[in-house]
Amino acid sequence: MKTINLVILFSGNGSNMQNIVETLRNKVFFNNLDLENKDEIEIAFPFCITNNPNAYGISRCKELGIECKVLSHKDFSGREEFDRALLKLIAGTQVELVILSGFMRVLSPIFTSNLKSINIHPSLLPKYKGIKAIQESYQSDDNHGGVSVHWVNDVLDGGEIILQDCIPKISGESLEGFQKRIHHLEYKLYPKAILKALNLTQSNTHG
Ligand code: GAR
Repeated sequence: MKTINLVILFSGNGSNMQNIVETLRNKVFFNNLDLENKDEIEIAFPFCITNNPNAYGISRCKELGIECKVLSHKDFSGREEFDRALLKLIAGTQVELVILSGFMRVLSPIFTSNLKSINIHPSLLPKYKGIKAIQESYQSDDNHGGVSVHWVNDVLDGGEIILQDCIPKISGESLEGFQKRIHHLEYKLYPKAILKALNLTQSNTHG
């Protein structure tokens, strides 16, 4: 069995992190680009990283039995110093892909040119980049909201789209209700997008 290691980075609640681990751990996959070679593949999460010592996601990691490394950006004088330290934390482990999951920092080329990363954003990019995406999408005249998963480069919420999906707006719905439905869409979309980015298909016969 081949193991693919993923590292998840988050800054707060960590609900997508938990959902990704619970959806993809202890399953068997194969590489859909390599049909000759039907080697079984498993996905592992050797550790997570947060830049926020008070992130609720740290308790979720404990519950999941996954180590959470804390690297506060406040301990560094600038973005590049922080990114160098982040890279160093990951460098000792063979990591296939870094999963940004509510990680609220823009990464510099120091990080992005060294590690392949993907990110989830709660809008149909390129609309509503930034931290108020759900609110702006809710307040807009659009008749739907959505979620995007994209490759990460050094542009905020930039990078090529891997998967997008949308939900219709419901007339009279509260912001909280809309937000809840966006998060449910995220829980469906992110694991699928990760498998797409890794060219993996879940095996029907196992797990
Ligand atoms: C998610 O809605 C994610 O799309 C968003 O942060 C939330 C994290 O929630 N990310 C961004 O806005 C990135 N620009 P979670 O910590 O409960 O997974």
